[in-house]
Amino acid sequence: MNDQSGIDSEKPNGLHVAFIMDGNGRWAKARRRPRPFGHQAGAKRTREVVEACPDLGVKYVTLYAFSTENWKRSRAEITALMALFRYTIRKTARDLHAEGARVRFIGDRAPLDKKLIKLMNELEELTRDNDRVHVTVALNYGGRDEILRATRKMAEAVKAGELEPAEISEDTMHDYLDTAGLPDPDLVVRTSGESRTSNFLTWQTAYAEFEFTDTLWPDFGKEQFAEALDKFGLRERRYGGV
Ligand code: IPE
Ligand code: IPE
Ligand code: MG
Repeated sequence: MNDQSGIDSEKPNGLHVAFIMDGNGRWAKARRRPRPFGHQAGAKRTREVVEACPDLGVKYVTLYAFSTENWKRSRAEITALMALFRYTIRKTARDLHAEGARVRFIGDRAPLDKKLIKLMNELEELTRDNDRVHVTVALNYGGRDEILRATRKMAEAVKAGELEPAEISEDTMHDYLDTAGLPDPDLVVRTSGESRTSNFLTWQTAYAEFEFTDTLWPDFGKEQFAEALDKFGLRERRYGGV
């Protein structure tokens, strides 16, 4: 019953670190540049952070790229962000695949533009058998929205006679969330000095450690990533082993 994703039965190994990549706008402002300039610089850092994962013993990395609340921003900023998502997927797809990354997207795709949805689906399909590092991108994601969509799907299953209300457990919820099959994050890192979760992985972070750092996302790299892991004693020291 609770193995719909097909990979639940696999015992996850390796760390799961989730990032709330915040501070791009302030980084750009400090340089007297428009906000999208900060998002571009941030995207480069995201790439660097993903690339660093295997070396740091991180098997799962989840990245908050666009929240359900981010639609409140100006049209110009939203358009620039959506263009950046398309550009970044096109530009990095082959390398991510070559690096053994399995990429998944969480969040509600329906309101996104068709071209972007197509690129997201293609990248998931291309990388679906990879297992070196699991990269999850939260795009039009909100924790409450995810729980609501899961609840609706469960209600549909009950209505169709496929699910017994008395059988609904934490495992059932796990299977109906967008993150089905992924282990819960061990550590959540938020950059830019804000200490709130902004609707990120509401269900999944019930037991996570949190690290709030003042560094702005476009200044966050492998070194800061390693420091955050060390601080929580989470870094796997493999010294070149497996
Ligand atoms: C995070 O940086 C990126 C997104 C939310 C898309 P911000 O754009 O929130 O940057 P600040 O918080 O305004 O500095
Ligand atoms: C959280 O950052 C969302 C992402 C990083 C995508 P925001 O900048 O949107 O969050 P608030 O507005 O500070 O809560
Ligand atoms: Mg912000």
